[in-house]
Amino acid sequence: MTPAHFEDKSQTAPNAGSDSNGKTKRYEQIAAQITAQVEQGALQSGQKVPSLQRLRKQFGVSLSTAIRAYSLLEKEGLLECRPQSGFYVAPRPPVPPQPPPKVHKASDVDVGFYNKGELFQIRAMVEKELFRTDSQVLHLGTIELNPELLPLAALQKSIASGPRRVGSQGYLYNWPPGDLSLRRQLARHYLDRGLSLSPNDFLTTTGCTEGIQLCLGAVAKPGDLVAVESPTCPWTQIFLQRQGLKVLEIPVLPHKGMDLDYLEKALHRNKVKACLIIPSFQNPTGSLMPEAHKRRLVEMLSGQDIPLIENDINGDLHFEKTAPKPAKAFDKKGLVMICSSFSKTLATGLRVGWITPGKYYGDIKISKILNTMTCNVMTESALGSFMEQGLYRRFLAKARKFYFSNLQAFLHGIGKYFPKGTRVLRPQGGLTLWVEFPKDVDSFRLCREALAEKIFVVPGPFLSSQGKFRNCIRVTYGYPWSEKVEKAMERLGGLAKRQLAEARN
Ligand SMILES: Cc1ncc(COP(=O)(O)O)c(C=O)c1O
Repeated sequence: MTPAHFEDKSQTAPNAGSDSNGKTKRYEQIAAQITAQVEQGALQSGQKVPSLQRLRKQFGVSLSTAIRAYSLLEKEGLLECRPQSGFYVAPRPPVPPQPPPKVHKASDVDVGFYNKGELFQIRAMVEKELFRTDSQVLHLGTIELNPELLPLAALQKSIASGPRRVGSQGYLYNWPPGDLSLRRQLARHYLDRGLSLSPNDFLTTTGCTEGIQLCLGAVAKPGDLVAVESPTCPWTQIFLQRQGLKVLEIPVLPHKGMDLDYLEKALHRNKVKACLIIPSFQNPTGSLMPEAHKRRLVEMLSGQDIPLIENDINGDLHFEKTAPKPAKAFDKKGLVMICSSFSKTLATGLRVGWITPGKYYGDIKISKILNTMTCNVMTESALGSFMEQGLYRRFLAKARKFYFSNLQAFLHGIGKYFPKGTRVLRPQGGLTLWVEFPKDVDSFRLCREALAEKIFVVPGPFLSSQGKFRNCIRVTYGYPWSEKVEKAMERLGGLAKRQLAEARN
C-alpha cells in the first residue's frame, strides 16, 4: 500500500495541542495532522505511514521533530513501530460520523424523554440490578476504578489522621466552605494546571454530584434551557431532569469536544440560561477540548453572561504528559464554575468533591447548607494530608499509566470481538469509550440481553435527552482487563452479531 501524502496544514489547524503559552509545538501539529488523516479514513489500520526521512522532508522539520511526532502517536496507540520495517497505523476501529448539523431551537426539545416509555423501563431494570451492594453484575458501563490500584495503606494512614488533625471540632457542625487544608491543596493542584485560585475560591461538596446540582440550582430554574454536549454522561441527563430543566444538545466533535460553531448558532436561536459541559476528557467520548476552543467557549458565553458549569471530574486523567488547563483559566467574570471530586481519580466511596462557585459563591454556600448542612471535615482533612505529602500526585501518575494500558486491551477486544463496521472513538483521557455499532444493532435489546447474563453496558439513549444513539453503547475501561472481562466483551460482540444476522434474514 502506498503511504498517504500529508499536506502541511498547520496554519489552518490551530487546535492540535498547545504548550502552556497557548502555542502548539511543531511535533504536536504534525501528530495532530496524522491523527486527522487516520480519523478521516485517509490512512487505514495496518497501513504503512511515511518513513521518518520522508516525514522530515514533507514538513521541513528536523529528524528529531519527526521522531517526536511518531513517538507521540505511538504512545497514544495510533501508530505501531515494526522492527526493520517502519511505522504502521495500529489496528483500531475508525471514528464515528458526526450528527447532522441541524441546530435546535427550544421547541424541538423534549423535556420528559428520560422518564418515558421504553427508556424508563430499561432504566428501572438497570437500577434494580445495579444499585445494590450485592450486585453480581460485571460493570462495564458504570465507571468502576481498578480496586487493586488503590493505595490502601497510604490512604488508610491519611484517613486515620483525619480525626486527630481536626480534633473535637470534627464532631461538630462544620459549615461550608469546608476544610482549609484540603482547599489549600486544591488551589496548589490547580496551579499546576495553569489556573491560579485561592483556597477561598473553593467550597467542598459531597461528590461532584452535589456540586453540579448546587451550581445548576444557582443559575437556572425549572423550565430554563441548559446547553450540554451530545452525547453526554447519563448523570448529566438525570441532574437536568430532576431539576426540571430543558436540554439543548450540542454535538461533540472527535478530539475537540463540544462543537462551538453549532453552539454559537444555537445561542442565537435560543435563550440559554447555562452551559454544563465536560471539556477535559468528555464522558463518553474521551475528547479533550483544545485550549484555544476552551478560550473561545468562555469568551462566547461570557459575551452573553451565560454561566458555564465545567465538570472537571476527568481533568487529571490525561494520557499526555501534562494536564490540560481547565476552561476556568480563561474566565474573567467569575462565570465559570468547576465541579469535580476524587471519585474518578482516587476512590468513589470517599464522597468528597469541590466547586469553584465564582460570582455565585454566596448563593451556593447557602444552598449547600440547606442541602446537606455541613462538611465532612475529617475525610476532607485526611485528603488534604494525602495531597500535602505528594501521595495524590504520585498515585495519579500510576493510575494514568494503568488506564492507558488498560484502554489498549479494551480497544483490542472491541476490534477482535465486536461486529465488522463497529466504530469507536479513541479517547484522549478519562475512563469511557463510545462505541457505535452498525445501524441494525439496538442497544436497548443488547443491554437487556447482556444484563440477563450479568453484564452491564450503558445503552446510547441514556446519554441523550432525546433518545438518540440507539445503536451506540458506552463501555468503561477502569476495571482491569481479565479473562472474565474478555469473555464478557466476546459475549457482547456475539449478542450484537446475532442482531445483525437477524436483520439480514
Ligand atoms: C461525568 C461525571 N460527573 C459526575 C459524576 C458523579 O461524581 P461523584 O461520584 O463525585 O458524585 C460522574 C459519575 O460517574 C460522572 O461520570
